[in-house]
Amino acid sequence: MSLASGPGPGWLLFSFGMGLVSGSKCPHNCVCQTQEVICTGRQLTAYPTDIPLNTRRLFLDNNRITYLPAMNLGLLSDLVYLDCKNNLIREVMDYTFVGIFKLIYLDLSFNNLTLISPYSFSVLSNLVQLNISNNPHLSFLHKYTFANTTSLRHLDLRNTGLQILDQDAFHHLITLRTLYLSGNPWNCNCSFLDFTIYLIVSHLDHPDDQNATCVEPTELSGWPITRVGNPLRYMCITHLDRQDYIFLLLIGFCIFAAGTVAAWLTGVCAVLCENARRKADEDEAEDEVGQRLEVSRRIIQNRNESVHDGFPQLI
Ligand SMILES: *[C@@H]1O[C@H](CO)[C@@H](O)[C@H](O)[C@H]1NC(C)=O
Ligand SMILES: *[C@@H]1O[C@H](CO)[C@@H](O)[C@H](O)[C@H]1NC(C)=O
Ligand SMILES: *[C@@H]1O[C@H](CO)[C@@H](O)[C@H](O)[C@H]1NC(C)=O
Ligand SMILES: *[C@@H]1O[C@H](CO)[C@@H](O)[C@H](O)[C@H]1NC(C)=O
Ligand SMILES: *[C@@H]1O[C@H](CO)[C@@H](O)[C@H](O)[C@H]1NC(C)=O
Repeated sequence: MSLASGPGPGWLLFSFGMGLVSGSKCPHNCVCQTQEVICTGRQLTAYPTDIPLNTRRLFLDNNRITYLPAMNLGLLSDLVYLDCKNNLIREVMDYTFVGIFKLIYLDLSFNNLTLISPYSFSVLSNLVQLNISNNPHLSFLHKYTFANTTSLRHLDLRNTGLQILDQDAFHHLITLRTLYLSGNPWNCNCSFLDFTIYLIVSHLDHPDDQNATCVEPTELSGWPITRVGNPLRYMCITHLDRQDYIFLLLIGFCIFAAGTVAAWLTGVCAVLCENARRKADEDEAEDEVGQRLEVSRRIIQNRNESVHDGFPQLI
């Protein structure tokens, strides 16, 4: 029978079925082992197709991939280990990792990340190690970025463009042990205060803390950010800067000026009142004198009259 002796439709159907079950072949140029796909350093410019669906570990490091397609990644629902180190990935979006919720290890170091969308990692509640170091254009992390990565133990934020971190972003990272923060242009202004206090009270491991230093402001430049909390608190809460001194000086001057004016007015008033009283007294005195004069004038007149009448008059 020709059907039984040679490769025919039945055999094709069989191999197609096997292909589906095993999750298809291995990507061109990559090496596939049991549930592991290694595409390290293959000059890939895009995410490879044909990755077996049961893959648990995927190595895409040292390529030129610019974009991680959420649809294709989402098919790998067993993925626990994803290494994208040293590529040209520019951004991760809210939906990029939405299908690979079992992920434990994610390495995005040495890429060109400029944007990590606030909910990018929101399904990665099993993630233990996250590396986003060496992304020099990454200048902002939203405070919800780590809201659901509650299993995170090691977080590497070295050598990025981050100037400031929001303490709220670390609020849910209760299992965090190691935090790398060196090589960033930290701006130790008052917005940074809460995070620096968090670094003091949280007792995390900072293997690189000598090199995690403030760049600005100039008076704190070179301070390790793990130790800048107290000086910063002094500067931001109790310390007065030049503007405050100018303000206080102005207030002092105003009080002084007001006091002087009040004293001067009081003095003027006192003098005026005194003058007025003295004048009144003098008027009175003058009036008395005038009256006396009048009286004597009358007496004299009367005398004259009485003399004239011939009857002396006694007063
Ligand atoms: C990295 O991103 C920046 C800003 O988006 C861009 O100017 C630069 O060309 C990128 N670098 C590479 C190597 O793609
Ligand atoms: C965290 O996960 C829950 C449920 O999985 C979701 O409803 C919520 O929006 C997530 N929060 C953030 C900030 O991603
Ligand atoms: C993060 O990646 C950098 C560069 O790839 C590496 O040197 C560093 O050890 C990694 N950090 C962690 C915590 O594994
Ligand atoms: C602190 O520095 C950051 C980053 O440079 C800036 O966004 C923020 O407005 C600054 N805060 C204050 C209070 O100056
Ligand atoms: C700090 O940086 C210097 C020079 O960049 C390096 O030699 C040293 O090993 C670093 N220290 C730590 C603890 O990372």
